[in-house]
Amino acid sequence: MTRKMLVTSALPYANGPIHIGHLVEYLQTDIWVRFQKACGHTCHYFCADDTHGTPIMIRAKSEGVTPEQLIERVHHEDVQDFTDFEIEFDNYYTTHSDENRQLSERIYHEALAAGSIVQRTVKQAFDEQEQMWLPDRYIKGTCPRCSAENQYGDSCDMCGAHYRATELINPVSAVSGRPPVLRESTHYFFKLGDYAAALKDLFKAGYVQASVKRKLDEWFAAGLKDWDISRDGPYFGFKIPGEDDKYFYVWLDAPIGYMASCKNYCDRNGLDFEHVWNSGEYEVYHFIGKDIMYFHALFWPALLIAAKLRRPDKLFVHGFLTVNGQKMSKSKGTFIMARTFLKHLDPQYLRYYYATKLSGDVDDIDLNVDDFVSRVNADLVGKLANLPSRSGPMLTKKLDGKLGMLDDEGRKLIDQLAQAKDSIIADYETLNYAAAIRRICALADVSNKYVEDHQPWTLIKTDPEKTRTVLTAVLNASRILTIYLKPVLPAFAEKMERFLNIPPQTFADVATPLENHPINPFERLIERIEKQKVDAMIEDSKQDAAPPAAEPSAAALDEPLADECTIDDFMKVDLRIAKIVKASAVEGADKLLSLELDLGGLTKHVFAGIAKAYTPEDLVGRLVVCVANLKPRKMKFGLSEGMVCAAGPGGSDIFLISPDTGAKPGQRVH
Ligand code: 2FM
Ligand code: ZN
Repeated sequence: MTRKMLVTSALPYANGPIHIGHLVEYLQTDIWVRFQKACGHTCHYFCADDTHGTPIMIRAKSEGVTPEQLIERVHHEDVQDFTDFEIEFDNYYTTHSDENRQLSERIYHEALAAGSIVQRTVKQAFDEQEQMWLPDRYIKGTCPRCSAENQYGDSCDMCGAHYRATELINPVSAVSGRPPVLRESTHYFFKLGDYAAALKDLFKAGYVQASVKRKLDEWFAAGLKDWDISRDGPYFGFKIPGEDDKYFYVWLDAPIGYMASCKNYCDRNGLDFEHVWNSGEYEVYHFIGKDIMYFHALFWPALLIAAKLRRPDKLFVHGFLTVNGQKMSKSKGTFIMARTFLKHLDPQYLRYYYATKLSGDVDDIDLNVDDFVSRVNADLVGKLANLPSRSGPMLTKKLDGKLGMLDDEGRKLIDQLAQAKDSIIADYETLNYAAAIRRICALADVSNKYVEDHQPWTLIKTDPEKTRTVLTAVLNASRILTIYLKPVLPAFAEKMERFLNIPPQTFADVATPLENHPINPFERLIERIEKQKVDAMIEDSKQDAAPPAAEPSAAALDEPLADECTIDDFMKVDLRIAKIVKASAVEGADKLLSLELDLGGLTKHVFAGIAKAYTPEDLVGRLVVCVANLKPRKMKFGLSEGMVCAAGPGGSDIFLISPDTGAKPGQRVH
């Protein structure tokens, strides 16, 4: 039975380039969509740029362009990156469109009519210098719980506390550096709690994976709060109907962008959008990362229910990408932009490698650089591409490029490969691409063994016709493996189809062997990865500009300079060499380490926010530079009597200043 499906990936923010972390999702979805199409189903893949919100407005300003110019430029860049990675959308649109405005207004009016939108006056931080309202992430100050400085307005990176921006001590605007003032404003709230029962029914019907359901249960237990869907101007977005200077919050119109992209496609292709989206004839699937579950598991279906629109069938949630076991890092060169990857490497390598890692659950996936090189070279090049490349040229050069008939043994091999079809289909359907690739590689091993057993390069000297029979089996095996791999490696498959002189293959073609059939000259399918190219890509990535932070965090460049300090102020800082004599983790603060320092006879105890970059074992015995005369600060975990000097953007990218090993604890440094 053929199915009809609408599939989406999360819409990337239009304030920066696509990187290999984003690509996990677009490749996961693209492979699934290509697989569905290869099964003969109708499957439309929709996406768009997510163009609204404060970070886009601020980035445009910092680049001296309008938001419209910024999103236009990013749109072209994104489309080019996706195209070059062979990510094939049926429509890649923008949320800054008439369709999206109309659908957003329609859903808003329906929710209003359902009594699910209320107005309330709230106090909010306002930057008087910049004349703008400040989202929590644009306010920085001292954590009310552990006294760590320079923390965001919603949570503390040091102790993990969550709080309201108004609770921060000494708050300043991250845009102007001035203390914000509190102003009253009326906002619109969507009453999420009205939809608790309907949402529970949706989860019972299997909307999310089991591990996601557990997270949702926690949220339900904590109570569903009203959701603020409005923002005051200046804001780049859609104006709320009937308001002069209030806009829909970007997260209201972003998911509606899925529908808008679909509507734009329908209008251009003679389809009735209302029917396609709402009739139930099409299944609807959303692919997202685990960071935006709340929006897609709660707000989005609740909005659709409020607007009497159909609910999606399933949310597929994936984990984050780590590289070499750690968060992607600019300084380590592992924050790799799609464009930088393309400059050095064949995109098929990443498509293949991600497929070997994706198994359909919410766990993070790791790109280990050595493993990446060896999996691609050993399996993709060494097994899967090797099979046709050792048989194809012999047939074209020595046997007139014509396949013969299969004998019993060849047919047995082909049957064995064909029998795996249903299992491979089930693997793809359940997003377990890793299992599909394992099966395909095992079948490639069987096929390569068939070649070894028959030694066509020896056989050709004595029995060319028997050799033709053997090569016919090998190339039919390659054809079946290529069909299985095609959702992952479409370009590879196209080359094979050209070489075998056959039309585009689908899963239905597995059962039909090619016999007595002329083929074309062989073209190389894929090259081995050279490690130097990977190293060059990593070096290049160290030079790339830091990616802009996602909504709602501030871009680093927008962080203002602190107040001036004079050289006299600076000379008050007494920097001393210190030796770390003890180091331990701090319970309840996963970024902090507790350090005992020896300053040449004087012992000081400090808490340092370096736990993501160093383990206690890395540190004991190490020399560091310490601000020795810092006024002791009482933190939740105890008294901190100084500060060790370290620098870096944060997380695992923090680097301690390392004095010469000959330096003496207590010695003053300048
Ligand atoms: O988190 C993000 O990158 C958002 N731009 C995703 C939006 S998905 C959908 F809701 F539009
Ligand atoms: Zn804190």
